[in-house]
Amino acid sequence: MISDIQEILVDEKAIEKRVSELGSQISGDYQGKNPILVCVLKGSSVFFADLIRKMPIPIEIEFLKASSYGSRAQSSGKIELRGDLSMEVKGRHILLVEDIVDTGNTLKYLLERFENLGAEEVKVCSLLDKPHRREQRVIADYIGFKIPNEFVVGYGLDFAQKYRNLPYIGILKKEIYE
Ligand code: XMP
Ligand code: MG
Repeated sequence: MISDIQEILVDEKAIEKRVSELGSQISGDYQGKNPILVCVLKGSSVFFADLIRKMPIPIEIEFLKASSYGSRAQSSGKIELRGDLSMEVKGRHILLVEDIVDTGNTLKYLLERFENLGAEEVKVCSLLDKPHRREQRVIADYIGFKIPNEFVVGYGLDFAQKYRNLPYIGILKKEIYE
């Protein structure tokens, strides 16, 4: 599998350190707010599991599935949302946990959706920020790493459902997806 990776962008140690920092920062900010952390599947699953264990405050968790990608390394621009959409968000502090913000289309869609449901506040924590191809004026409140305009996989991120189990974030060789 490593032979499909051109370069390791963020290694295991760096991820662990940054996730701990984010956990502390977010826990401080959400003290006494009993937030709902929403895991946006599937990409943020690994990050989410690590992050919530670095948050020693009362929280609730929910899972949603948002997909904008087919099996190609290019956004379709159309967001498909699935999962339990019945959670009571009225008056609640919502923290959306994303794997990566790229064009920003997914994030914009989710933010509007939760605001329309009457959340008290909706914020976003994204493991990665790829600002190069941004189409929407959105920014995550908490960002793990800013990355260059490369297609990355690992630590939850996939190409055609593969590589999610890699413990690091790596740049996928172009020949794999082109
Ligand atoms: P948008 O463009 O809506 O994208 O901000 C958000 C979703 O696009 C996927 N995405 C990637 N997935 N490597 C991946 O494995 C990447 O480099 C990449 N860039 C965008 C991802 O599912 C994200 O939630
Ligand atoms: Mg994805």
